[in-house]
This record gives sequence, structure tokens and C-alpha cells, in this order.
Amino acid sequence: MLHKKLKPFPENFFWGASTSAYQVEGANLEDGKGPSCQDVKELPPGTADLKTCADHYHRYKEDIALMAEMGFKSYRFSIAWTRILPKGTGEVNQKGIEFYNNLINECLKYKITPIVTMFHFDMPAELDKRGSWSNRDSIQWFVDFAKVLFENFGDRVKYWLTINEQNMLTLVGPIIGTMCIPEGTKNITKEVYQQNHHMLVAQAKAMELCHKMLPDAKIGPAPNIAFVYPASSKPADILAAENYNAIRNWIYLDMAVKGIYNPIAWAYLEENDACPTFGEGDAESLKNAHPDFIGFNYYNTATVQASLDRNENISPSADQQSARGEAGFYKGCSNPNLPKTEFGWEIDPEGFRVTIRELTDRYHLPLLVTENGLGAYDKLEDGKIHDSYRIKYLRDHIKQIQLAITDGANMLGYNPWSAIDLVSTHEGIRKRYGFIYVDTTDEAVGSLNRYRKDSFFWYKKVIASNGADLSE
Ligand code: BG6
Repeated sequence: MLHKKLKPFPENFFWGASTSAYQVEGANLEDGKGPSCQDVKELPPGTADLKTCADHYHRYKEDIALMAEMGFKSYRFSIAWTRILPKGTGEVNQKGIEFYNNLINECLKYKITPIVTMFHFDMPAELDKRGSWSNRDSIQWFVDFAKVLFENFGDRVKYWLTINEQNMLTLVGPIIGTMCIPEGTKNITKEVYQQNHHMLVAQAKAMELCHKMLPDAKIGPAPNIAFVYPASSKPADILAAENYNAIRNWIYLDMAVKGIYNPIAWAYLEENDACPTFGEGDAESLKNAHPDFIGFNYYNTATVQASLDRNENISPSADQQSARGEAGFYKGCSNPNLPKTEFGWEIDPEGFRVTIRELTDRYHLPLLVTENGLGAYDKLEDGKIHDSYRIKYLRDHIKQIQLAITDGANMLGYNPWSAIDLVSTHEGIRKRYGFIYVDTTDEAVGSLNRYRKDSFFWYKKVIASNGADLSE
């Protein structure tokens, strides 16, 4: 649709940015924090360990002040489960409560709305030992953790996100250092989707609890949604795109929003003898979630073609943004119409609009962008970082949000990845996303001084003009 006139961004639009605890905080075993799966995993070669990261744990005041200087209306961060419950269940660590109280209060001091992710890739190591999400008890572990969060922070936190990128945990969990598969598992797909089912039930129960305990708070899921294109107009490719859309995107949101398994995804599970077993009460719990909005991370679209041979050998995904394939179901391919980042991720701003429209059409809920951004090798020169490539990426995506708003989408906010440089899931701190540069490398911890990138000054102007001024 070529609009004659664009609608403005809504008033009270949440302009902000995101981080996650294990990637930004450091102090990973300090003040009583227990280890998470991230702290005990084998690090990808040549990447920074998680002891320091951006040292946000000790420097949050300086960081929030910088966010306030940019004019942030919101800050999306996650709470480390093991800072609150070092063993995952049981005793509460008061030092952990204190840290997040301070962080939340610091945000509020500057009128920055905290948007809290309850779980971002950091399962307590002690719970991994007990089977992690494969253990049905994980549902209760998560709900108990949620209760502690709502009790302690619910008076001030009004926006909650349940599980970050549950779809990526399920599709590429081992690459991002999460998801434990019990030794000797024969049908890995079945195991993975049973874990997925436990997460879905845990999420639904946490949403129900949130509505009960905090009637004025809002809660939603936060999957990584990327609309899937067919490689051509061949009907078989279109079917393949529908297949991948079902297992990459809709299985998560159909369940979170409507409480039902997406039928195409269910057929895929049946084919693979991988249908999850429902426990008592699961079906009711799943129906009772009623999220208030959908949070979603968007980096780019995916493109697939038909796989017409059930014995075809298809290589596994390299990470979150590369579509792999399932013989006889779909096969990932690159999109020749799209440029790529230095780290090989396709860039597709228009696909953002497509994805937002599709979400609007399917679910009729307000949408909150919880991640979007460009990972690049930034260079610090004379105290400056000239990241015009990032400005271009963000500007092109923000324009598409405005187009989508004009198309009829109800957008709550934009919280790109990341507020500040932090350690990537598997490519170290050399892959930078922040508006704020942190002086440190994968090889050695540096001064940790903060520097404002060019994108910092640009985003400040964008926020001040409520998205009207996107010029550099
Ligand atoms: C998302 C995650 O997948 O993408 C973040 O929610 C992650 O945790 C971000 O850091 C960027 O991915 P990566 O692999 O470049 O760190």
C-alpha cells in the first residue's frame, strides 16, 4: 500500500532498547548469584567469558543515566533467575532482589518504564541437573520464580515478558548455549517438543498468575518472529513457506494467544512421532493465558523452498537467523534480493512491515518490538564510533514501523538490541549492537569506559521528535 499520508507514532510510544542479564551484567557469581547454564557451558572459541560482560551489574547507574540522556521511555532487561533463586528453587537471595530493586528504581527516577523479561536463555545450572525443561516440574519451578518476581517487583513493573525466544530455544537451543537434551534420547524432536510444551504451559500459568496478582500489569510472550517467504511462486515453495512459518512462528503464538496447537505444526509433530504428552490441566491452563500484547524480536525474514525428498540431507542451522530445513517439509535458502550484515544475517526492513502486518492480521493484539538491530565490528577512534551502518539499519526499520502503523497495526514500542554493547549469544563482544560502546574485547577486559556512538546522538533526536526526525 502506498499511503498518501503516514500516521504519526502514538503518544507514549515506548522508545527504548533491550539487554539480557547474562549478556550484559557480568558479576556472574557475585553477591550470592548461582550459576546458570550459560556460566557452565563451554564457550565458543575466542569469545569473552561471562564474568564481566559490560559490567552493568556495577555500572547500571551510569548506564541508565546514558539511556536517560538518549531520552529512553523504556528499558527492556531480563532478571537472572539465579540472582534471585541461586539454585533455581528454594531460598531467595536478598542481594539479588536488592540489585533489581535498585535497577528498577533507577529507571523510574528518569521516568523510564522497566519492561522485564522473566527468562532469557539462563536456566539455573542446578535445574539443568534436574532435567531442565524436560522435567515436568519445570512448569512449577517457573511459576514459583514468577511469583517471587511479581511479589517483589510488581508494585513498580507494569510490563512483563515471559520467555525470550522460546522458538529459538526449541529450534537452535544448543547453539545459543541452552536446552539440555538428556543423554541417550532416541527421538530428539519429540524430546525438544516435550520441553517446548512444558515451556508453553509454564508461560501460560505465569500469565494467569500475573493477571491474578497484578491486575494493572500487562504481560506477553517474546518470541523471535520472522515471516517466511517462499523462494518462488511455485506452489510447492509456497507450501514449504507455510510449513516453516508454522513451526518457526505460529506454533508459539497460536498457543500463547489462542491456547491451541497450530494444525500444520501439529501435523509435522505427528509425522515425526513427536507430539508432546499433555499433563492433567494443561489444556485448560493453555487456554487461560490471555496475553495483553505480543512482544517480538525481529532481525530479518527467512526464505525457504520445497524439499521434495524425504531422505534429502539438509545441514543444520548455524544460528537464530538462518533457516535450516526438514527433509520433505521445507529447505532454507538465501534471498538474493537482500543484503547481509558483516555477520551474514540478511537485512530486510520491508520484511519487518510484512511481519508486523501478519501478526496484526492473525492476532489483533498490540505489538511491542522487543529486539531488532545490527551486529557489527565497531571501531573506537579518538573517543568516537562512526556507526552510520547501524543508523541506516535502524532508520530503515523505524520507517517500516510507521508504515505498518499506517496500515493499521497497534504498536506499543520499539526496543532494539541493544541499549549498550554486550556479549553476543555465540559470537563474542566483537559483534556489537549497542548505542553505547563499551571498551572491552573478547581477548581481555578493557577499561570498560562507556562512549556514545554516532547512533546514540541520532537515536536521541529520533526519540525527541517521536520518530518524526530520522535524519542523520
Ligand atoms: C536474539 C537474542 O536472538 O538475538 C539475544 O534474544 C541475542 O539474546 C540477539 O543477543 C542477537 O543475536 P546474537 O547471536 O548476535 O547475539
